[in-house]
Amino acid sequence: MANRNTIERDLAGDIVQVVEEAAIAAARTMGQGDRQASDQAAVQAMRSAFEEVQIDGNIVIGEGERDEAPMLYIGERVGATPPPGVEYPKVDIAVDPLEGTNLCATGTANSIAVLAASEPGGLLHAPDCYMEKIIAGPACRDALDIDAPVKYNLKAIAHSLDRQVQDLVIMVLDRPRHAELIKQIRAAGARIRLIPDGDLSAGIAAAVRGAGVDAVMGIGGAPEGVITAAAMRCLSGEMVARLVVNTPELEERVERMGIRDPKRIYTARDLAPGQQIIFAAAGVTDGALLHGVRFFGDGCRTHTLMMTYASRKVRFVDTVHMFREPGRRGVRLY
Ligand code: FBP
Repeated sequence: MANRNTIERDLAGDIVQVVEEAAIAAARTMGQGDRQASDQAAVQAMRSAFEEVQIDGNIVIGEGERDEAPMLYIGERVGATPPPGVEYPKVDIAVDPLEGTNLCATGTANSIAVLAASEPGGLLHAPDCYMEKIIAGPACRDALDIDAPVKYNLKAIAHSLDRQVQDLVIMVLDRPRHAELIKQIRAAGARIRLIPDGDLSAGIAAAVRGAGVDAVMGIGGAPEGVITAAAMRCLSGEMVARLVVNTPELEERVERMGIRDPKRIYTARDLAPGQQIIFAAAGVTDGALLHGVRFFGDGCRTHTLMMTYASRKVRFVDTVHMFREPGRRGVRLY
C-alpha cells in the first residue's frame, strides 16, 4: 500500500519531464500553421516520455476514444515496463499534450503542454463534450452560483475581492455562443478579455494573484475542465461547472461513462477528488504565467508550473535541456 504523498513525492519530477518533452516537440512546430502537426508532435513526445516513467498509468482524459486516437487514448496504459515481480504504482492521468493547438500553430500566446495525475479514481472520467464553467481565485470560496444571473456572480466575485464590479477582468473564449454572456458582463460594467483559445491556462491565471484576470466564464471543453479542476485543487481556487449534454448521443455516452446525473453541478473537488494530485504545465508559446520554449542551438530552455495538492507545493521549474555538449558559446542564460 502506497504511503500518503508517495505519488506526489516520487513522481513530480518525472511528470515535469513528460510535459517538458511535449512542449519542446510542439514548440518546434510553432507558427507553421498546421495545428494537427503541432498536436501530433506533442502527443508523440508525451507518449514516449511516459515510457521512462515507473508507473502503471491509466489515461482517463486523453486524445479521444481508442478507435479515434492512436496514442494517449482513454483507457491506454502508459509507463515503463516493470521487471518481473515488480509492480509500479497505479496512477490515473488526464493529459492535454497541447492545450491551444491553434495558438501554437499561429505562434500566439498561452499554449501549454499539460497533465494532471492522481491516485486511481482521483480524476473524473469526463466525456469529450462542452462544459459550462466559472473559475475564480481562492478569495471567491463558495461565492459562485452557475445558475445565478451573470451580474450576481460578478457582484459576488467583486465582493470577495473587495473591489467594484467595474474593476474586474473576466476572461471569455471568443465564440459566437458567448454573445449573450459577453453582453451581460458588459451590461454589469465589468471588463472583458476575449481569448481566441485556451480556457485552461486562463483558469489557472484566474487563481493566481497578479496574473491580471479575476475570473473565467463561459463554455469550454469538459476534458480541459477536469484538468483545470486539478489545478484549482492545488491552488485552492474556486470552480463551478456543469456538462453541456444536449443530444441523445451525448446523453447515452455520458450514461455509459457512469455519470448518473448529466445536469450535476460540479466543484473542483468533484471533478478532481484525488487526495494526491500532481499538476504540471509547460509553456509552449509565451504566456501570462509561463515562458514558451526558447531554442539556442545547443539546447533549449523550458518553463514549467508544477503543483502538488497534499504536499502544498507550487513550483516554477526553469530547465535547460542540452541536446549535445554545449559549444563554444556555452549555456545561454536568457
Ligand atoms: P485545443 O487545444 O484542442 O485546440 O482546444 C483549445 C480550446 O480553446 C480549449 O481551451 C477550450 O476548452 C476549447 O478549445 C473550446 O472549444 P471550441 O474551440 O470548440 O470552442
